Amino acid sequence: MKLVVEGLEAAHGRTQALFGVSLELEEGGRCCVLGRNGVGKTSLMNAIMGVLPTRGGRVELDGRDVTRAQPWERVRMGLGYIPQERTGFGHLTVAENLRVVLESRKDGRRSEVDEVLDLFPALKPLLKRPAVFLSGGQRQQLAIGRALLTKPRILMLDEPTEGIQPSVVAEIEEAILALHAREGLGILLAEQYVEMALRMADSYVVLEAGSVVARGATAELSAHDAERLLAI
Ligand SMILES: Nc1ncnc2c1ncn2[C@@H]1O[C@H](COP(=O)(O)OP(=O)(O)OP(=O)(O)O)[C@@H](O)[C@H]1O
Ligand SMILES: [Mg+2]
Repeated sequence: MKLVVEGLEAAHGRTQALFGVSLELEEGGRCCVLGRNGVGKTSLMNAIMGVLPTRGGRVELDGRDVTRAQPWERVRMGLGYIPQERTGFGHLTVAENLRVVLESRKDGRRSEVDEVLDLFPALKPLLKRPAVFLSGGQRQQLAIGRALLTKPRILMLDEPTEGIQPSVVAEIEEAILALHAREGLGILLAEQYVEMALRMADSYVVLEAGSVVARGATAELSAHDAERLLAI
């Protein structure tokens, strides 16, 4: 599925957070939104998802204007979103958290839960544990698993490795890249860490105070140049 974002404007009350942001994610593409704290990465993800109302610009999925579509309609069309907070239902177990999403679909198959557990084997011994007692990395794996059960064509991840230990970061990256390779899953990632963007994405945009200040192909960007860009 192709995502086009054009001239997106959004605000939190009187504070404007996005000033005409544009980006494109080709079918099966991997794009990273880079930027430091507070530049508008989460606002952009929320606006694309329809969680934050927009004041201008448009969002298109496969050529269809979804700027006014409800978040759940965008999920049904194939946008899978893992918000920065990674909450889920804290008092439900891991198994129940997965089941809530699966059962919300008419065509959900139990075997899809097994596929999630194959992707994140660390969750297998935790199925009966309330989500609130998971570690940060386990919670993130559960959050990705829940998003995958919505059958996305594009997975949107907001700082998925924030506060997670490096070995688990590697597992999460590997799982996402495997899905991309196997199913052509598109990826839109918001990240502060340039190294991760270079490993995960083929294109990038740099946000600064709610505007795109640089964009290009990650292959043409050394980690050193990227750090410099982020220091603007
Ligand atoms: N609910 C809100 N009310 C008012 N201002 C907000 C709200 N949410 C975010 N902002 C402001 O909007 C701007 C962009 O915030 P946003 O959360 O999108 O940044 P971010 O790039 O995701 O930051 P981080 O890396 O810390 O997650 C910031 O100036 C922030 O203070
Ligand atoms: Mg954020």
